[in-house]
Amino acid sequence: MLDYNVLIEKAINAREMAYAPYSNFKVGAAVLTDDGSIYTGCNIENASYGATNCAERTAIFKAVSEGYTTIKAIAVIGDVNSYTYPCGICRQVMVEFAESSDMPIFIVKNKNEYIKTTLEEILPGSFGKKDLEKA
Ligand code: THU
Repeated sequence: MLDYNVLIEKAINAREMAYAPYSNFKVGAAVLTDDGSIYTGCNIENASYGATNCAERTAIFKAVSEGYTTIKAIAVIGDVNSYTYPCGICRQVMVEFAESSDMPIFIVKNKNEYIKTTLEEILPGSFGKKDLEKA
């Protein structure tokens, strides 16, 4: 579990960088790539609201833009002292880059308290590249 503890701590630290002047809801995320490197992200809001990017997608897009298109795990922490689950758009982006449907997702409350779930659990019956390959 050592890698996952590091992942969780990096998500917590990434939340410090959140740009959330509109919602004041800070989110941090960290993804583990298939070569063992970790990319972090925070939510980045916009005055238009709609151009806001979630912490999970920031982390995933940073990894992908550096050449890592396979993600082995993700940790996310929201602002309040409870468990914040990824939004629907972020779940769909995870489907695109997750190593498998049983990829672990850590929903973090704090360093010592987190829920370990999987992509299949939070987005069952997902649509993905496998469906397009059938066409
Ligand atoms: N947010 C995330 O960063 N990740 C989620 O999974 C849920 C929502 C952000 C977007 C916005 O900046 C703020 O939380 C309030 O919705």
